[in-house]
Amino acid sequence: MPATIIDGKAFAARVRGEVAGHVSRLKADHGITPGLAVVLVGEDPASQVYVRSKGKQTVEAGMNSYEHRLEADTRQEDLLALVGQLNADPAVHGILVQLPLPAHIDSDLVINAIDPAKDVDGFHVSNVGLLGTGQKSMVPCTPLGCLMLLRDHLGSLSGLDAVVVGRSNIVGKPMAQLLLGDSCTVTIAHSRTRDLAAVVRRADIVVAAVGRPGMVTGDWIKPGATVIDVGINRVDAGDGKTRLVGDCDYDSCAAVAGAITPVPGGVGPMTIACLLANTTTACCRANG
Ligand code: GUN
Repeated sequence: MPATIIDGKAFAARVRGEVAGHVSRLKADHGITPGLAVVLVGEDPASQVYVRSKGKQTVEAGMNSYEHRLEADTRQEDLLALVGQLNADPAVHGILVQLPLPAHIDSDLVINAIDPAKDVDGFHVSNVGLLGTGQKSMVPCTPLGCLMLLRDHLGSLSGLDAVVVGRSNIVGKPMAQLLLGDSCTVTIAHSRTRDLAAVVRRADIVVAAVGRPGMVTGDWIKPGATVIDVGINRVDAGDGKTRLVGDCDYDSCAAVAGAITPVPGGVGPMTIACLLANTTTACCRANG
C-alpha cells in the first residue's frame, strides 16, 4: 500500500486560521494585538527568505510584525542592546533572532539575553530546562510542528519506538524531549552512530533532521513506519535550476513507509504556524 502523504501545508493553514481567530478575539475583547519582533543580522539568502515569510504570515494572522535588519558586521554589544530594547517593549510579545548569526557574535549569549517569556523560539536555557523537566515552556517551533503532525496522524504515540536523526539544539534535542514527553522510547542518532541504518530500521517513527539531501533511504525504513522529514536542502536540478529536497530519499522511503511528510509542503509550513501560535501564547501569558 502506498504511504499516506502527511499534508503539512494544509495542517499549517488550519493552525494559522486558529491563531488568526484567537488574535481577533484578543483585539476585540481586550484591545491587545500580539507583536512579533524578528531580528536578522547579515544577508544569508535562506534566512532572508524565512524572515520575509515570517513577516508576511504574522501580518496575515492579524498580528504586528517588527523587522530589524542589521548589517553583517554589527557589533555584538549593539545586537544585545537591541534585544534589551525589545525585552522592555510592551508591544513586543515574541522575539526571534534568526540563526545562524555571523561568526563574530556569540549566539548563546544573544539567545540567553532574550526575556524567556518572549523567547518564541524556545532556545533560551530556561525554556530548554523547563521542556526537559516537563514543565510549561516555550517549545521550539519545528519540533512542535512535527509533534502536531505525528499526533494528528497516529493519535497516541505512547510506547512507540522513535529515532531522531540529528542532535541539533534547534530540532534534534527538543524533538527527542517532546517524543519522550509523549511516552515514546527515544533514540537520538547522529553522524557518529554505529550502523545508523540498523538503528533507524527499528523505528516506528523516524524524524530526519541532519541537513543532508536524501541521506535516509527506503532500505532504512521499517515497513509501515511514519517518516517525518525536517530537511530543506536546495540541490541542483540538472537543468540549470535548483529544487528543494529533504533528508529522506522520498520515493524509496514512501515505497516502504506507512506515512511520510513531503518536501516541500510537509514540516516547513508548520514551523511558521507554530511560531505564530507561540507568539499568541506569549501575549496571553504576558497579559494574564
Ligand atoms: N534558523 C533556522 N531555523 C530557525 C529557527 O527555528 N529559529 C531561528 N531563530 N533561527 C533559525
